[in-house]
Amino acid sequence: MNHYALLRQLHESIQPRAYLEIGTSRGASLALAACPSVAIDPRPDLSPKVDVLGIKPWLKVYRSTSDDFFASHEPASTLDGLPLDLAFIDGMHRIENVIRDVVNCERWSHSGGILAIHDVLPQAPDWASREPRPRNWTGDVWRVVPCLRRHRPDLDLTLLDAAPSGMLIVRNLDAGNRVLLDRLPEILAGYLDDPRPYQSQVEEFLAGEHPRSTETWAPAPAADSAQRG
Ligand SMILES: C[S@@+](CC[C@H](N)C(=O)[O-])C[C@H]1O[C@@H](n2cnc3c(N)ncnc32)[C@H](O)[C@@H]1O
Repeated sequence: MNHYALLRQLHESIQPRAYLEIGTSRGASLALAACPSVAIDPRPDLSPKVDVLGIKPWLKVYRSTSDDFFASHEPASTLDGLPLDLAFIDGMHRIENVIRDVVNCERWSHSGGILAIHDVLPQAPDWASREPRPRNWTGDVWRVVPCLRRHRPDLDLTLLDAAPSGMLIVRNLDAGNRVLLDRLPEILAGYLDDPRPYQSQVEEFLAGEHPRSTETWAPAPAADSAQRG
């Protein structure tokens, strides 16, 4: 299943009361949401061919980087008091941005919320370059997988083989957890100053991963989600 089919399945199962996405582009992922939604992108390029509003009661699109957005908005007023049940992280594909996006989305969520992080499984090391490329660019988003395993063992992580470049599902969120923020300089120095050739770091990561199949994994339906706040 590709990542859009997986997102559709997440929306249908969870039935989020509010959805937030970082990185909207032409609106293909945003169109899958049926609930009140917040979309953040410094260069949204919403296509007239995509019905992004659909049946959503409301939709707020912010022309902003995610960092600037979270520095200047509060969850209660932005989400009209609704709990953030699902956030999709698909913005700037560099690890420093992704970690900040995770921290901010978790801060806006609740313990029963879900984060979905796109592009965690590049098909080849050249997809994972830190410098953007015109097609198939996953950047070093993959680094969020070992990062969360090491620094946030309290999180429930599920790595899925969604085509073409994987998805990480993050649950058991803790809005008050500051570990990633406190350790951010140390975490980034560990990655960005790593003397090993970057290509071999990516190859080693990919060789060690055994993602679950999207065909056999399903999120718990909303009605069964005892933690839903
Ligand atoms: C891969 S596209 C998103 C695709 C979209 N989620 C979809 O599936 O239809 C990545 C988007 O991230 C946006 N972006 C780049 N830097 C960003 C940042 N710092 N904060 C938020 N979004 C960013 C880009 O403008 C681009 O539109």
